Amino acid sequence: MKIFTTASKEEAAILSAPCAKVEFPLSQERKDLIEAIKKKLFELGGVGLAAPQVGVNVKIIAIYIPKDAASIRDHARAVPMTVFLNPSCETIGQETFEDWEGCYSVPDTMGKVSRTFRIRLRAQDELGNKVDKEVEGFFARVLQHEIDHVHGKLITTRFHKHSLFGPMAEMMEKRIAELSPEKRAAIEKLKTKQKKD
Ligand code: NI
Repeated sequence: MKIFTTASKEEAAILSAPCAKVEFPLSQERKDLIEAIKKKLFELGGVGLAAPQVGVNVKIIAIYIPKDAASIRDHARAVPMTVFLNPSCETIGQETFEDWEGCYSVPDTMGKVSRTFRIRLRAQDELGNKVDKEVEGFFARVLQHEIDHVHGKLITTRFHKHSLFGPMAEMMEKRIAELSPEKRAAIEKLKTKQKKD
């Protein structure tokens, strides 16, 4: 399954279009799409993927934060592969935090994005059960990023003129420079592993 990126005009149009609600019971087509998204996110190694990124404008997102991805972030914990349908979030409190974000659909770009620290997530699971919970830290950041996708919003719209953002290689240097020694070692290990994969 191919990842749509802004490098193509046609794909960029899909990435920036709003998404339709998922209806229950799920059709076989939707079930297959959910499985394909999970498989793709697993292959990519996490941390989030939304349906428009595989070319379908429906409100489906998947989150998967493996332990090693969590280890290079602040306020992070591992999250098993989880799918949220029709997700929306609401800000809790005033606290915001900045951290690096990249996106599989925005090639060769990385930057710092300010997000709400704590959110209330409302969604449905794959069986149609209601999800209503408070989430904070890096998990909340990934959810906000993916929920942006189902609204046709990319990280490029979250960078502002005072944000630190730019080409991946250049930003990676800055990112590594600001890490603690432990996190720096973890990120180097992750990079070596990704090269081997
Ligand atoms: Ni993204």
